[in-house]
Amino acid sequence: MLAIDPKIAADPFPTYELLRGADPIVRGPVVSSTVDHQAANEILRSDDFGTAAGHAELPPFLRRVLERVADPYSLSPVDKPSLLALDPPDHTRHRKLVARAFTARRITALEDRVTSVAEKLLDELDGGSFDLVERYAARLPVAVIADLLGVPEEQHDWLLDWGNRAAITLDPGLTFREFRDAETALRRMHHWFDEHVAQLRRNPGDDLLSQLALIDGEDALTDLELRAIGLLVLGAGFETTVNLIGNAVVNLAAHPEQRDLLVAEPERWPNAVEEVLRYDSPVQLTVRSALRDTVVAGTPVPEGLGILVLLGGVNRDPKVFTDPQAFDVTRANPDQHLSFSAGVHFCLGASLARLEAVTALRTLYARYPDLELAEAPVRRGTRVLHGYEQVRVMTGSPV
Ligand code: HEM
Repeated sequence: MLAIDPKIAADPFPTYELLRGADPIVRGPVVSSTVDHQAANEILRSDDFGTAAGHAELPPFLRRVLERVADPYSLSPVDKPSLLALDPPDHTRHRKLVARAFTARRITALEDRVTSVAEKLLDELDGGSFDLVERYAARLPVAVIADLLGVPEEQHDWLLDWGNRAAITLDPGLTFREFRDAETALRRMHHWFDEHVAQLRRNPGDDLLSQLALIDGEDALTDLELRAIGLLVLGAGFETTVNLIGNAVVNLAAHPEQRDLLVAEPERWPNAVEEVLRYDSPVQLTVRSALRDTVVAGTPVPEGLGILVLLGGVNRDPKVFTDPQAFDVTRANPDQHLSFSAGVHFCLGASLARLEAVTALRTLYARYPDLELAEAPVRRGTRVLHGYEQVRVMTGSPV
């Protein structure tokens, strides 16, 4: 199985540059990869590619056996029937249902809630030095997602803990210990979702899961499908946004002049968030496999070839971004990044993630304009998800 060296995972950017050459797709002995923006865009948007459903590098017969024996109480957010593992037409049907929760109207309606959570979390801090991830960056997205899923506040900490432990299941080549720990967390989440869904079926609320549980007729979703949607929204919703906020704070601490510019001109925050997404993508890669012989960026690709689309490297393609290795919140086109993917799997929560990050950062720096790191930040051990486990900051004097 493909494994990614933890040192490369912590700083994958030099490796991406080694892969950048004449060929847009670099063929490897087990799996191929791309850091080419045009090739990535074509692959993600093409009908000739499907999700590799987590087992791209296995022979098809073994993949079928694994799918058959998979225990529905240990399925991860990248296993079927998760949206991330489905291809059209199944994907189209599920996505349409889940997309109801993410309309522009619904996201705008969440704006006040996001601001009030951010203010409340900052009120609970008494300045000085604290771990920004634990006290702020993780708490804001979990509160928002919990609202979407109808989860009461006293259960937020469980979700945080299970989510943190299960996040590593996105990675290829887990060790047995990593697999076992993540699987235990996933089982707890499945059982918890079972009870939660049963309760929402009896007593539906205004949240996404209740609305999905109420659908009947031919679109009715099974408990397994509802659990898969819950797990995905939970995992995709906060394990990524926490990284975006943490990565922003670390990069701004390294560039205090850019932090000062944003404090002075807060209307620049949306562009700054796009630049963090580009420069330090919270999701570093996704996988696709060719469903038939095809051509990508002029290069022939045979049926069955698995390709790692290295989003973090794609976002530093010099053909698209001037001086791509520089972090620059005033850059003209940071939103050309592919951090939210593209095509049919384009992130359903992209607008929500942008709203959360802009609000979290604007509120934080309005209160603590001199915020800086108190010590070196600690990276998460995950490879697909890219961010920090701990970012201790010093606040300076509050405004
Ligand atoms: C899909 C990134 C936040 C829900 C994706 C994909 C990426 C991504 C790269 C597609 C993967 C692929 O093509 O294989 C991110 C990043 C986020 C973020 C970087 C934050 C910074 C969110 C939030 C939610 C969310 C806040 C929901 C509350 C989803 C869902 C999908 C998805 C449901 C599956 C879409 C599909 O397969 O059709 N996200 N995401 N994401 N994301 Fe996000």
